Amino acid sequence: MVVLLLFSSEQSICQARASVMVYDDTSKKWVPIKPGQQGFSRINIYHNTASNTFRVVGVKLQDQQVVINYSIVKGLKYNQATPTFHQWRDARQVYGLNFASKEEATTFSNAMLFALNIMNSQDGGMSNHFALLFY
Ligand SMILES: *[C@@H]1O[C@H](CO)[C@@H](O)[C@H](O)[C@H]1NC(C)=O
Repeated sequence: MVVLLLFSSEQSICQARASVMVYDDTSKKWVPIKPGQQGFSRINIYHNTASNTFRVVGVKLQDQQVVINYSIVKGLKYNQATPTFHQWRDARQVYGLNFASKEEATTFSNAMLFALNIMNSQDGGMSNHFALLFY
């Protein structure tokens, strides 16, 4: 485990399939994050072990296009609206993930909550212990 942390600075902590949506305030509807592009993406949360930050990256299964590359911010509120639809918001947008299965939603939310836990406790100096426990 220590070896991994030394040799790679970005490490995937989960993988799940979901379609990535944003809430369109004008039409009051959820729409695909890339206009006109429906379908599942492979979503990973990457942990940058050097800076101890986390990023949500989604790549379309169909054409490998990056649809989301989102830095998780400390204090982000992650809402599990249904077992397969989760969402969060920032100052600009509301993001939604429509997962392919409950299991994948659970895998992703566990990793997201783990990331938020680490970020929210960052001043406590315990984060590396948490990371080692998780991997
Ligand atoms: C996501 O953004 C970061 C910083 O802007 C960049 O370094 C990284 O390569 C991007 N990842 C992908 C998959 O586009």
